[in-house]
Amino acid sequence: MKVAVHGVSGRMGTTLLRLVHAADDLELAGALTRPGSPAVGRDAGELAGLGALGISVSDDVAAVLAGVDAVIDFSLPEPTLALLPRCVASGVPLVVGTTGFDSEGLAAIEAAATEVPVVFAPNMSVGVNVTLGLLSLTARALGEDWDVEVVEAHHRAKVDAPSGTALKMGEVVAEAWDKSLDAVAVYGRERRGGPRPSGVIGFSSIRAGDIVGEHTVLFAGRGERIEITHRAASRDNFAEGALRAVRFLPGRRPGLYDMQDVLGLSELLG
Ligand SMILES: NC(=O)c1ccc[n+]([C@@H]2O[C@H](COP(=O)([O-])OP(=O)(O)OC[C@H]3O[C@@H](n4cnc5c(N)ncnc54)[C@H](OP(=O)(O)O)[C@@H]3O)[C@@H](O)[C@H]2O)c1
Repeated sequence: MKVAVHGVSGRMGTTLLRLVHAADDLELAGALTRPGSPAVGRDAGELAGLGALGISVSDDVAAVLAGVDAVIDFSLPEPTLALLPRCVASGVPLVVGTTGFDSEGLAAIEAAATEVPVVFAPNMSVGVNVTLGLLSLTARALGEDWDVEVVEAHHRAKVDAPSGTALKMGEVVAEAWDKSLDAVAVYGRERRGGPRPSGVIGFSSIRAGDIVGEHTVLFAGRGERIEITHRAASRDNFAEGALRAVRFLPGRRPGLYDMQDVLGLSELLG
């Protein structure tokens, strides 16, 4: 399968170049960056520290799309939105890992997905997505009688808290209870909060050192508890997920897919 990476000069872009090159079943056949980037014309392998691969970094989207089976995009919202109609015109399916779209951008992704298959997921980590499936199953089985707490830890430079992934985990539990997260979330308790009511989801955040990202969801019942933990060690996990997503595309009908579809979780978990 011939794959192009869009956004190759970025942190995710170089990680993807490395992992696509290392995959036996994928061929790196295109490397796209923004027009005017100093990376244009350089060998993509050299950009990723792999040595020369004979693939030049290009800003010529049409030429690259003519020679590939799929594109993996980790760039910025504006370049992604410019890429979508080009992929539609060339009939090339794509994986969109870029985040930060407004409602118009999300509508443009949905519109493109009526013409070509698109996998779109703001978190492509296989482990995180399987964890979300486990949380849904666990919360549905246990119900609201079990107390739920989400505890997350990240490096000291992270500015938002709780993390987007922690909030997503809370959303999945709230959804299993048929509630909105806003109605049940309790953030960062202080000393005089009174006893813990049932049916709420508590969030705690740790910010320290260089922790890449850890999330634990604790379900506590009477006399027992379950803890579901995901630990990230590097950003390779997002790129591995994007590779799973690109392998899912051949032969798919046009449509908007997410990582639950890619991993077959809906069928597995019911
Ligand atoms: N879905 C997930 O699991 C997941 C995981 C991690 C990150 N992300 C998202 O992925 C995106 C990229 O993350 P990152 O950490 O790699 O960011 P980054 O290092 O800032 O990389 C973004 C890259 O996009 C390039 N770019 C700008 N304009 C472009 C254009 N017209 N055509 C092609 N490329 C263009 C930039 O090139 P220049 O350097 O030349 O300006 C830059 O290298 C972000 O939206 C991030 O939130 C998603």
